[in-house]
Amino acid sequence: MSDPIKQVDAAVIGGGVIGCSIAWRLGQAGMRVVVIERGRVGGEASHAAGGMLAPLAEAERADDFFNLTVAGLAMYADFARELKESSGVDVEYRAEGTLYLALTEEDEEEIDRRCRWQHEAGLNVERLDASRALELEPLINPALRFALKYPGDHQVDNRRLMTALHAAALNAGVEFWPYTEARELLVESVSGQKRITGVATARGEVRARAVVVAAGSWSSLLRCDEPPRFEIEPVRGQMVAIEMPAPAVRHVIYSCRGYLVPRLSGFLIAGSTTERAGYDKRVTAGGVASIIERAIEITPSLANQTVTETWAGLRPHAPDDLPILGADPRVAGLIYATGHYRNGILLAPITARAISELIIKGESLINLAPFNVARFARHSGAG
Ligand code: FAD
Ligand code: GLY
Repeated sequence: MSDPIKQVDAAVIGGGVIGCSIAWRLGQAGMRVVVIERGRVGGEASHAAGGMLAPLAEAERADDFFNLTVAGLAMYADFARELKESSGVDVEYRAEGTLYLALTEEDEEEIDRRCRWQHEAGLNVERLDASRALELEPLINPALRFALKYPGDHQVDNRRLMTALHAAALNAGVEFWPYTEARELLVESVSGQKRITGVATARGEVRARAVVVAAGSWSSLLRCDEPPRFEIEPVRGQMVAIEMPAPAVRHVIYSCRGYLVPRLSGFLIAGSTTERAGYDKRVTAGGVASIIERAIEITPSLANQTVTETWAGLRPHAPDDLPILGADPRVAGLIYATGHYRNGILLAPITARAISELIIKGESLINLAPFNVARFARHSGAG
């Protein structure tokens, strides 16, 4: 049976890291907020991720997106501290840093190129010879040629992060509707101006003056009279957990082909694949084989360790690789916070601050212009 109409200040569609972070901030500001989540809160990409907070290790150039990730990382330590105070959950924010290994001759060229542009941009990158890298991480492949160290690239346990965000949002008065599908964005037109009025859900209608679309890989599938001019494509990433007593490996470690993320509870996460497989979240033999091969290339002794878990998640990817953040200029009150692709865990605090300020004050000091949905209208020549 459907609930009667629910009236709130803001409805958030999607209970992943992005939706929960925004809802928490809005709840803290005293707004009445409902998070509509089709499945379990935090059960999709935000559960599947590695938790790396790695602007430098993942960047190819110093552009607007890179600046957003750096500004986002600068907020993380406070975000984690505040979350612990609000939820009682330690999200295991760790600042040991990240190593990037050159393991082959081709890697040397590629990583030298990375090191050069990052140095020229004045970024915090150190070049370590092989013996220094092995002192820092004795289990890495002794055949390595050299490594980069990114002292400023950190990590968090994203599953603990989701537990913390859910609890903190509940404590801030946010209402959650789990296992409830949002079906349609409700829009009215008054004197030619369109505005959002709410969301039709499997449990009834939610009326709100602001609706945030934070539905990850499913963000462009919601029905609406003003359908979005973009498509979010799911990009599958498979992962493998391998037993490894802490602190045998302390840094996040990248090679040009894969990465390892150490967890304090005694395992490493090895990742990942980048696959266009639609909404198929299967773990495949080929995916696992390639991940394990690359993990063993980084740390040969993993060959004797136990595989404890495998999983896959869908990264939300916009056509130009950038997130979609901010107000829809065609529909007042409709706000997008999606398309975070490989960096949604990293970008959660800055997205939450920017979007909550936009809803509460009508503007944010964080410049969201490069990420506004209007860029797709420009590309298509419309609007
Ligand atoms: P999601 O977590 O997918 O949440 C969206 C939610 O919306 C889902 O729970 C879904 O059920 C819900 N939903 C969808 N449609 C509806 C509907 N109609 N009604 C109601 N609810 C709906 N990022 C990093 O920063 N660091 C990393 O190390 C990292 N590693 C990754 C490794 C892998 C293998 C993967 C897959 C991703 C990784 N990412 C990483 C990316 C990161 O996980 C994502 O960018 C981030 O989780 C996106 O968060 P989200 O809240 O937008 O999406
Ligand atoms: N950021 C790591 C991944 O998306 O696999």
